[in-house]
Amino acid sequence: MSDVTMEKIVSLAKRRGFIFQGSEIYGGLAGTWDYGPLGVALKKNIENLWWRRFVDSRDDMYGIDSAILMNPRVWEASGHVGGFNDPLVEDKKTKKRYRADHLLEEAGIDPSGMSLVEMGKVIAEKKILSTDGHPLSEPQQFNMMFKTSAGSVDGTDIPVYLRPEMAQGMFVDFKNIIDAYHPKLPFGIAQVGRVFRNEIAPRDFIFRVREFDLMELEYFTKESEWEKQFEYWATQMREWFASLGFAPEDIKEVEIPDGERAHYSKRTIDFHFKYPHKFDEIGGLAYRTDFDLKNHIEHSGVDLQYLDQENNVKFVPHVIEPTFGLGRHVLAVLAKAYTEDDLGGETRLFLKFPKHLAPVKAAVFPLLKNKPELVAKAREVYGMLKKEIPNVMWDDNGNIGKRYRRQDEIGTPYTITIDFDTLGESGDEKKDTVTVRDRDTGEQERISIVDLVSKIR
Ligand code: GAP
Repeated sequence: MSDVTMEKIVSLAKRRGFIFQGSEIYGGLAGTWDYGPLGVALKKNIENLWWRRFVDSRDDMYGIDSAILMNPRVWEASGHVGGFNDPLVEDKKTKKRYRADHLLEEAGIDPSGMSLVEMGKVIAEKKILSTDGHPLSEPQQFNMMFKTSAGSVDGTDIPVYLRPEMAQGMFVDFKNIIDAYHPKLPFGIAQVGRVFRNEIAPRDFIFRVREFDLMELEYFTKESEWEKQFEYWATQMREWFASLGFAPEDIKEVEIPDGERAHYSKRTIDFHFKYPHKFDEIGGLAYRTDFDLKNHIEHSGVDLQYLDQENNVKFVPHVIEPTFGLGRHVLAVLAKAYTEDDLGGETRLFLKFPKHLAPVKAAVFPLLKNKPELVAKAREVYGMLKKEIPNVMWDDNGNIGKRYRRQDEIGTPYTITIDFDTLGESGDEKKDTVTVRDRDTGEQERISIVDLVSKIR
């Protein structure tokens, strides 16, 4: 992976229809990206695996899909109105904005634990300038929530926020889940959805953006069991990363010290992936204590305690929260898969996706597109496969070499060619057999059409 650069990934992602710049024909909008057909297929594969593992295959998890717009009092209770801030500095001349902590990091200074005043002092002492070479303003807190308004009559509309995290949906629906399902502790509420953060300086492709998808769950437990559950979920997260084909050395676990954790957390481990730009956060595990439920009890006046019927006691459960950035998973899977090798004396580029993540599972080609009998047979094979494995692609564009290159670049594990032998022109032995090429080795084997489904699955 040493020479896998972000530029190479961005270029491939655009060329092959994975990810495009948002609003590109208008010059783009910073921090927004659009997923094309292959990007969305890859994203859905990751999301579906996550849902199957953490929701469908468990008896103690309740999946929800809560609203993006919430009563603004939610964000007062959660502490986001007062505390969801990043340190902002401005180029005094151009007014361009920067994250003070990022500028310090780039200057080789660790900003961990620094107050705004301390950051300002170091910036002044070290004469750190903006990327345009101009002096910077004093750091100030910048709230990252996007504000809009709800209501159809001007003057009576109320200010609302686009949710900056999904967790509050799970806390606000805690009572609904209890009332509808009467679950026993420990249990979890999970969802996958979109969140919005007005990042001061979006960067590194889809790594730091202003709207992104999260896969997240809140696991409710007795306070006395939080440490056990924390360890359990750390193991679950490690196993999840391994299931995506990440090696142990691709992931680093970073214990976040006192004073640097989010306002709600008493313990946090950030999981960092080896991205092309650096090791950086792909997900996190936090012990949110009873902070959120307690604050919602206080602000809403609604009793959100759990009734332990066996012991007839009521208490506010504590929460362990594993969270996973979906876009950051897409970037990690792309970076891990990006491979350049030498095949048949030529340099080639291919995406070595694990088969279960590949957006296209196989591509079917007629050897020649101007031979109706080949095309008809290939269409028949394609139709049969598509019924069993929907993510199969038809490709008859250009010569076979070009098709292989294209499929390699989008990470298709198998390419299937229908040729004259398939039609029985060289005898009955090869009739109804096809050539299957393996993406990783480039090797080809002849297999019977009836065995194709099990080969590709
Ligand atoms: N509910 C907890 C929570 O939202 P977070 O660490 O603020 O925690 C969760 O965010 C995950 O979202 C991170 O681990 C990261 O993978 C992803 N993430 C955070 N900011 C992001 C951004 N600006 N662009 C893309 N992904 C981001």
